Amino acid sequence: MKTVIYYFTGTGNSLAAAKTIAADLGDCELVPIAPLADTTGDIVPSAGRVGIVCPVYDTGLPVIVAGFAGRLGLVGTRYVFAIVTLGGTGVSALHQLNHILKEKNGRTLDAAFAVKMPGNFPPVHRPPEGKERDAILASADECLKEIAGRIKKGEHVPPGFAPFSSFMYFATYRFFAGAVHTGDKDFSVADTCTSCGTCAMVCPVNNIKMEEGRPAWQHHCEFCCACLHFCPVEAIDLHSMRGTKGRGRYRHPALKLEDMKVQNGRSDPGVSAINKT
Ligand SMILES: Cc1cc2nc3c(=O)[nH]c(=O)nc-3n(C[C@H](O)[C@H](O)[C@H](O)COP(=O)(O)O)c2cc1C
Repeated sequence: MKTVIYYFTGTGNSLAAAKTIAADLGDCELVPIAPLADTTGDIVPSAGRVGIVCPVYDTGLPVIVAGFAGRLGLVGTRYVFAIVTLGGTGVSALHQLNHILKEKNGRTLDAAFAVKMPGNFPPVHRPPEGKERDAILASADECLKEIAGRIKKGEHVPPGFAPFSSFMYFATYRFFAGAVHTGDKDFSVADTCTSCGTCAMVCPVNNIKMEEGRPAWQHHCEFCCACLHFCPVEAIDLHSMRGTKGRGRYRHPALKLEDMKVQNGRSDPGVSAINKT
């Protein structure tokens, strides 16, 4: 059965997860969600099986993914699954997705999975490094292989019971979602910036313009933090909560600059197709 997997990623965990699943399923197309925000109307995949893979933000979905899900038409879809990648707490994001799909299509996910991967939000937790990071990635890989097997079998897997995550979602997510686009006012750039433009190139939603050789955030941010983590000289900082100075940076080891350019439509999307027949 043909599969289309829609993905969103800031630092590569969700893309790596999507690629692992795609390779295992075969006959699978990877489609970035970000460029779809520039289109209107329903998004109707021509595939029997549809997947959504994305990170958890503030115990919910990235706002751009929630918007995408509200336009996803599943009339011809036989099986729909979702995988959220997270640093610790956020199964509630799968319940949120179920709610959106139910409103739009009158049906929920056939299978819902959460996979622990390295956290990428230094204002709250330092991203893991070295052996700790590698162990988390190895365990995520095992988990993803098992998930691919369950998807192939067409198993029904509802999202797990998640009282703490759901409490946090109801308490905080709406504040995150309401302020996310202008949250970029808390980013700053130091004089060590070399004007290389990497931050602008990797932004999934093209929210950064280079002005006089410096990044200028345009206030339609998704808070994925790709700019922060990709800056080759760590000149970018985020000033919310504990801040990011000296608190580490993270990218999935397989993530390339080219992957981010495919995601934001700056490169040929054809290269994202895996096992396309
Ligand atoms: C703004 C923001 C908020 C986050 N909130 C959560 C959260 O509520 N729970 C959690 O477990 N991880 C949280 N994370 C961590 C990410 O969900 C996790 O690292 C994810 O795997 C990143 O995926 P990516 O590399 O595809 O962007 C957050 C990350 C960011 C950038």
